[in-house]
Amino acid sequence: MKKILIMNGPNLNLLGIREKSIYGDQSFEEYFETLKNKYGAVDLSYFQSNTEGVLIDKLHEVGFDFDGIVLNAGAYTHTSVAIADAIAAIHTPVVEVHISNVHQREAYRHHSYLSKNCKGVILGFGLDSYRLALESLL
Ligand code: DQA
Repeated sequence: MKKILIMNGPNLNLLGIREKSIYGDQSFEEYFETLKNKYGAVDLSYFQSNTEGVLIDKLHEVGFDFDGIVLNAGAYTHTSVAIADAIAAIHTPVVEVHISNVHQREAYRHHSYLSKNCKGVILGFGLDSYRLALESLL
């Protein structure tokens, strides 16, 4: 059974509450349940943190063992050389995900420090971006 971790960064614990016109009205926990039901043959787990170092620790913890990581690093995407370095350091392939189409938004969201070290990037499909990223790892 493939082991895949979905990781969410800062403010994504507020999905369903936060800026609904951009991020939708479903909580990630609820969406994760539908994903788990759909992908019963995958060992799927979920982790969220608002803290950069905690996200890095988690990448180190699973990054030599899991088959794939789906990562929405939130705003750290646009700021964190440290998360980019962690992705480069581990062996597990990481797919970068964004719910919104960041290229239609503020210029400071157009650059990602992470993309270069990721297997690929999926963005702009709402929560379905996570499923598409998962598919790409299977
Ligand atoms: C986001 C886009 C980021 O720019 C933003 O900071 C987020 C969410 C997205 O999923 O669309 O927190 O990663």
